Amino acid sequence: GAPVEVDTSTLEPGQRMNISWRGQPVWVIRRSEAALEALPTLEDTLADPASDVASQQPSYAQNTHRSIDPEFLVVVPICTHLGCIPSYMPKAGSLDADWQGGFFCPCHGSKFDLAGRVYAGVPAPTNLVVPPHRVAENGLLVVG
Ligand code: FES
Repeated sequence: GAPVEVDTSTLEPGQRMNISWRGQPVWVIRRSEAALEALPTLEDTLADPASDVASQQPSYAQNTHRSIDPEFLVVVPICTHLGCIPSYMPKAGSLDADWQGGFFCPCHGSKFDLAGRVYAGVPAPTNLVVPPHRVAENGLLVVG
């Protein structure tokens, strides 16, 4: 599939854009400052906080925010358990008191943070997939 160009300039913090790449849904999410600050605090509760499973993201996204530009998450919203589409729940406290925002899979209860990192103790075995992406010279985000 050809790369897809995305204009992220209209995305407000917390907002999500839904695109399609190679027949798969891809979400582009602009994270708020508070969401970014929460990411490093979650490591003890995650199954793969350092994104060691190399198949789940390109090497340049093997960082706390799992992306090229910390502000923008690019993620395939397909649960790594059995493939349901998780719900996007960006608001802190919206799932339970400790919730710092992320993705909740309604099928069997898997939880992911706002970098798509899976929490420990849920059915999903790995972090959500981050597809290849880059920022072009014209400022557009290129997925693929
Ligand atoms: Fe998401 Fe089972 S498919 S938890």
